[in-house]
Amino acid sequence: MKKVYLETFGCQMNVSDSERVATVLADKGFEVTPDELSADIVLLNTCSVREKAEHKLYARVGRMRKSRQVMPMVGVMGCVAQLEGETLFNKIEGLDFVIGTRAIGRVAEAIEKVYDGNRAVTDLGDREKDYDWSVSDPQRHSRYVAFVPIIEGCNKFCTYCIVPFSRGREESLPASEIVRHVLELRRSGVKEVHLIGQNVNSYRPTNESGLETFPGATPFSRLLRAVAATGIERIKFNTSFPRDFHADIIDAINENKNLCNWVHLPVQSGSDRVLKRMKRGHTIESYFKKIDKLKDSHRDLALTTDIIVGFPGESEADFMETVRAVEYCGFDSAYIFKYSPRPGTPAFTMDDDVSPGEKKLRFLELEKVQKRSQQNRLQRYIGNTIEVLAERVSARSEDDLTGHSTCHKLVNFRGSQEMLGNVVNVRIREIRTNSLFGEFVKGKG
Ligand code: 5AD
Ligand code: SF4
Repeated sequence: MKKVYLETFGCQMNVSDSERVATVLADKGFEVTPDELSADIVLLNTCSVREKAEHKLYARVGRMRKSRQVMPMVGVMGCVAQLEGETLFNKIEGLDFVIGTRAIGRVAEAIEKVYDGNRAVTDLGDREKDYDWSVSDPQRHSRYVAFVPIIEGCNKFCTYCIVPFSRGREESLPASEIVRHVLELRRSGVKEVHLIGQNVNSYRPTNESGLETFPGATPFSRLLRAVAATGIERIKFNTSFPRDFHADIIDAINENKNLCNWVHLPVQSGSDRVLKRMKRGHTIESYFKKIDKLKDSHRDLALTTDIIVGFPGESEADFMETVRAVEYCGFDSAYIFKYSPRPGTPAFTMDDDVSPGEKKLRFLELEKVQKRSQQNRLQRYIGNTIEVLAERVSARSEDDLTGHSTCHKLVNFRGSQEMLGNVVNVRIREIRTNSLFGEFVKGKG
């Protein structure tokens, strides 16, 4: 039995792709192993959203060459594979095959071709009409949490972003299939599903099937209601696109307890001038209005965001507007990135005129502001009891369990193994850098 080792970089869509690839390979008789050194085949699922992510791939294969006497078969999938295609064979010594983002249903065929003696095997083709989106239980990243893709690709073409090029045009999966998928997951013991896509709220299936009885102004809010009606314990979704984030989504959350207390809404910048150059399709005022509506909800919704500092032409004054936006919104957490020029994107031709030193300063400054407001926001949890899905035993201590709250905070807590897979009450005692710490309490706290 040939052993395959799969390593995943990047976003949750890549994690989900890897789960499906592992499912197919296991079905076809390969052993999916966590032990790289014993693997016959190493498959790297790559990210190209920032330059650093791409460099990781080249460094990774270099290290492999040093640590192994006999090189395994090496394949690259994911965004770098799609963008670079056959040119990767010149860049990576010992590479055997390249699989594009929509060709992942045919990884086993590529491996067979390499075993048959073919070289530089490349498949950047489209997805099969009958592509199977399901993941077998052993291949899921968690026993209790499942990623469910609802839309792939992106049509937004924000000027800095490579995703529309690496993942192609938006395509929504049929609602009836998504609902069936969630019902199956529920039956197999999954407690929390994440509806995933580059822009989940741009969800637009070709027909109504599965949505008929669910009201709402946009197909996404109707899908949320349809998935809520499956009775699965928890539903989270990301990422949302501000321009398409309408009030009916908040209505759906307000009316369904199993839609969780968390919205990830990337703002990217607080300056209208920069937002325009980024082609985000929203102004900071329109974004603030959405944040106000989210904060008006009777549910204590956690808000998270993505921000880019040092976009071409970003002045000190523009940056200060981003600082103000972060102060205004009071995000529970923010992923802050230094702008990284990506060849092929519209922004690549703009003058990358914010120096690396300045980008770093802005990054550190914004991080400081965010940490301060985050600390303030998190204080409200101290002494409170929140519901946490007990997902696994903590890597640090056998007496602790780890899981996520409905507001998507990572929570470590004293608890015992029989709680695994249950949503339990945890009283929060401490706020740590990227997590909360507490203890299990019986009943409602
Ligand atoms: N440079 C820096 N950050 C980027 N992102 C996307 N493209 C770039 C880029 N070229 C960030 C955005 C996006 C997140 C996933 O990555 O903030 O929301
Ligand atoms: Fe990239 Fe913009 Fe699409 Fe998000 S919405 S994936 S940032 S192009």
